[in-house]
Amino acid sequence: MLCMLTQGPIGVFDSGYGGLTILKEFKNILPQYDFLYLGDNARAPYGTRSFDTVYEYTLQAVKYLFEQNCSLVILACNTASAKALRTIQQNDLPKISNSKRVLGVIRPTTEIVGEVTTTKHIGVLGTKGTVMSNSYVVEIEKLHPELQVFQHACPMWVPLVENNEYLSPGADYFVKKDLDALLNQSSNIDTIILGCTHYPLLMEKIQQFLPPNINILSQGEVVAKSLKSYLNRHSNINQSTTKNSRTVYLTTDSSESFAIQAKIFMGETIDARQIHLK
Ligand code: DGL
Repeated sequence: MLCMLTQGPIGVFDSGYGGLTILKEFKNILPQYDFLYLGDNARAPYGTRSFDTVYEYTLQAVKYLFEQNCSLVILACNTASAKALRTIQQNDLPKISNSKRVLGVIRPTTEIVGEVTTTKHIGVLGTKGTVMSNSYVVEIEKLHPELQVFQHACPMWVPLVENNEYLSPGADYFVKKDLDALLNQSSNIDTIILGCTHYPLLMEKIQQFLPPNINILSQGEVVAKSLKSYLNRHSNINQSTTKNSRTVYLTTDSSESFAIQAKIFMGETIDARQIHLK
């Protein structure tokens, strides 16, 4: 078991590019910190994969990031947070190290949802995996039992983003269809959680098809503020993070494709390195 305090960047993991919407806000809100981003592009999407597979892939990524001296890893992926986080925290971390931490994106998002809604009817959009796991329903029930949660899976949204079709006219059909399917479950929904880190890329289309009185809760800023507060409250973890304003990008697929695609998310030129997970 590793017990020594090693210093390194904050690890940020996603199945592909979606976690970049979270990383972007980390860099805005915590500009002095170093980040190590890992996208498992070779095996994305995770949204349609089984619990066991998402858990196995996520654990491999977490272990890899630990080996790169990350003491804190954020699963910037709702699917991995829904299907793998709890088992990793409860079963794997105690065997790996008592000084390392893994956090997800679902808990911080559900914490603030009660402040945003007035009708108390919340909509959640996510991958099939996230919706089927019921993680949002369970977490919201724990924190805000007075809220009613309606969910809908949007299996086409991640491929639209990953294939650079999120601004195309073809995307309109799927965005409208899925928003209608959610809103048909309750006419009182006033807050929608975009429970997938890819979805902010579709924001323009989502806003186009949603009534203006509905709040859209996009996770990046919420999760970044929550990370800042976590680091303030956990000085040992904070001390184990390096702070040279550097971000390094890793992908399990072609580094050239990653660089092109990631530039769309980050708005700046990205240099990525290919690695293999096992
Ligand atoms: N970005 C991931 C999420 O937040 C899912 C994408 C995928 O299906 O791999 O759920």
